Amino acid sequence: MIYILYGVSGVGKTTLGKAWAKELSLPFFDADDFHPASNKDKMRAGQALTDEDRWPWLAELKAAFPQWEKEGGAVLACSALKEKYRSFLLREQPIPLHFILLDASKDIISERMKERDHFMPITLLDSQLDALEKANYGSTLNVEKSIEKNISQLKEKIENKADLGLFGLGVMGKNLAINIANNKFSLATYNRYVTGSEEHIAEQLAAAHPNLPFIPTPSIEVFVESIALPRKIILMIPAGKTVDLVLDQLTPFLDPGDIIMDGGNSHFEDSIRRTKALNEKHLHFYGIGISGGAKGARKGPALMPSGAKDIFPQITPILDRIAAKDTHGNPCSGWIGKAGSGHFVKMIHNGIEYGEMQLIAELYHALRFHANKTVDEIAHLFETWQKTDTASYLLDISAKILRTKENGTPLIDLILDKAGNKGTGNWSAKAAFELGVPFNVGSAALQARFISAFKAERLSASTSFPLSKGSANFDLSQLQQSYQMARIINHAQGLKVLQQASETYHWELNLVETTRIWTNGCIIRSQLMEECTKHLALSNEHILNNLLDNKDYNKRIKALTHFVHKALGAACPVPAHSAALNYFLGSHSEQTSANMIQAQRDFFGQHSFERIDRKGSFAYPWE
Ligand code: 6PG
Repeated sequence: MIYILYGVSGVGKTTLGKAWAKELSLPFFDADDFHPASNKDKMRAGQALTDEDRWPWLAELKAAFPQWEKEGGAVLACSALKEKYRSFLLREQPIPLHFILLDASKDIISERMKERDHFMPITLLDSQLDALEKANYGSTLNVEKSIEKNISQLKEKIENKADLGLFGLGVMGKNLAINIANNKFSLATYNRYVTGSEEHIAEQLAAAHPNLPFIPTPSIEVFVESIALPRKIILMIPAGKTVDLVLDQLTPFLDPGDIIMDGGNSHFEDSIRRTKALNEKHLHFYGIGISGGAKGARKGPALMPSGAKDIFPQITPILDRIAAKDTHGNPCSGWIGKAGSGHFVKMIHNGIEYGEMQLIAELYHALRFHANKTVDEIAHLFETWQKTDTASYLLDISAKILRTKENGTPLIDLILDKAGNKGTGNWSAKAAFELGVPFNVGSAALQARFISAFKAERLSASTSFPLSKGSANFDLSQLQQSYQMARIINHAQGLKVLQQASETYHWELNLVETTRIWTNGCIIRSQLMEECTKHLALSNEHILNNLLDNKDYNKRIKALTHFVHKALGAACPVPAHSAALNYFLGSHSEQTSANMIQAQRDFFGQHSFERIDRKGSFAYPWE
């Protein structure tokens, strides 16, 4: 942190700056020493400096910041009177600057200048006071008070402050707060007040965990003031308009260099927009994809942070500590890429999640209603698979769900077959379509949720047009191969979207690192994800083919074909499995049906077509 005391010449920047530097055991610098000799001469001769004179001086100062910061920070006395000068010092550099305005009346300043025989003629004071633009950030000290008083005021600003702040104590927010505090970071907490439903939430959380270093705060202003500079604030609030509203409420109280992290499932384009808007105010924005549900948030989630790379070291220690750990003990967190990329990666994570969930749901449904299996038999099957390469968090919880009974009735039978969605699956399909990348499994899973939502229509259609449902006669020994094949296709498709997005948006995503982050803490953690990391480390070309074991792929594709064939034959919808199969068949066919599409387009729209016997673009007089 570099503290910059600013104000008109003669206000006492050097005296107070030296005292403040002594208090913090930091070096003190006087910006006047960085003026070129020509500027100093001009000032001595009583001539006001122009902007032209000031830019080289400010550039010289700014160039010194990295070294000062490396050595632990500094205190600088600088007459950065205008916002554009301060803005120049703040712009495009990661070092937090805390501006401290020294304010006093003209009489007091003139008196002090006379006392100290200041090099600037007193006649220039009026022009300096006219030029002074007070910043709406940082601190203001009235230097008419004593130096001791000013120093104690400044100390109050930085002492006994929380390491970071967390805004929004819903289920995820609360659990993440406990995780952060358990990791010994003191945490200022804030939650809005809603009479009757959200009253004193921060205080209650602190009271429930008296041994944790929580600092509950009653208002946004107090919340911000309770956090150490430069502030690190995690937002755990619903994605969408709420994030913009909260940013509008927070920013007036923030200081340049403060870092806001959005831990919700925000849309990546919103995160890019917010990064730009906050950067204009010299604030930093980090979009952080967080996966793992409530338990993950508390015990260690997978984190997908993105934003300016030079800011990342400031938040890495916190993120690394609270994240889940991979099999080598490394944090399931790491810099994903530039603004927006972390939320994009989380969105595709959820797209894969939708596919994984739907594949399991289809298996359960097919076995239960078309192969006459009981919930316990299916649970047992899943538990057996859990000991093999199909093991995953989602398969594990699905077995547990099937084992859950309420008064002897499987709970699953009491749950309505109508699935909602919060939007990330939908966005990931849209993003894939916009990038022109096939996303069959994720979108089939999304469509299946949409179909499920029309419960009343389904009920009436099922009586008006009853299906002739039957037994599927599955070869159970092949089921696991079929399931794994569909999963591999689902994962490969999601990763391919990331690969294309990285190219299109110039993100330079590292898929090995992304899948490594996904090996623990997140909802799609699995044995297959470990395999993905290993395979991608060898090559990230032809992801699907790389993930397929050459020896087994034929067996697996046959198994998947068998499952889809039998299920559809028994009027059992298996949209995710069949989407996977169709994708595989299409993407591994030398000849597709697209020649007919080309011809049709040309027939009705003269769109032209390519030929296999000649190069070029051709139109045909069809009629
Ligand atoms: C996670 C989950 C989490 C949440 C999603 C899914 O990774 O922890 O994906 O983010 O469950 O909001 O939401 P929907 O299924 O409601 O779309």
